[in-house]
Amino acid sequence: MRKSWFITFEGPDGSGKTTVSTMVYERLLRDGFDVILTREPGGIDIAEQIRKVILDPANTAMDDRTEALLYAASRRQHLVEKVFPALKDGKIVLCDRFLDSSLAYQGAGRGLGMDEVLKINQFAIDQCMPDKTLYLDLDAETGLNRIQSRSFKDRLDQESIDFHYRVVNGYKEIVERFKERMIVIDASQCAEKVAEDAYQKILEMIQ
Ligand code: TMP
Repeated sequence: MRKSWFITFEGPDGSGKTTVSTMVYERLLRDGFDVILTREPGGIDIAEQIRKVILDPANTAMDDRTEALLYAASRRQHLVEKVFPALKDGKIVLCDRFLDSSLAYQGAGRGLGMDEVLKINQFAIDQCMPDKTLYLDLDAETGLNRIQSRSFKDRLDQESIDFHYRVVNGYKEIVERFKERMIVIDASQCAEKVAEDAYQKILEMIQ
């Protein structure tokens, strides 16, 4: 059995990543695995501070490249403070969003280009790519409908439906481009079924 694993959860807004990754994390813990659950942007104090700046609906003046750089900066700090040490200790690291979110949201959604966004992120991640990525596959409309009832909508949630279409198309391109890393899960199912599918895929991987 391999010692450490870096597993990321990706998907459009409303795809249920946070609920599903929490359910999977709790089950892995109960099964006795040495596992942590973290998130991007955030997961540690400095990155949570950057998250607030990026997602504050008042920051309408934020330039697209500034946004991409802030995500990359929070990613770097989170890796250094939390992910690298956990991987070094042989843990399973589950991360709610990572690099693919920047490729889909800033690369495709903002139109900065995936290759450009990948380039600035290479400086941040220093070759640390996930072992596997669970992609929670859901169309943009269903995702946005699911988040309508949220009392607080952040700056990205408030983007147009066209932006969210571009994000989902970006994810489709990522699934093709990184076939060997991506595991696609049907996120139109109930959260329990999505979590069960995700859990089984992770077990296959780590055992
Ligand atoms: P969350 O709602 O999944 O916590 O993520 C916050 C928002 O940030 C979500 O709309 C996706 C967006 N995001 C990016 O645009 N680029 C990134 O690199 C990451 C990690 C998140």
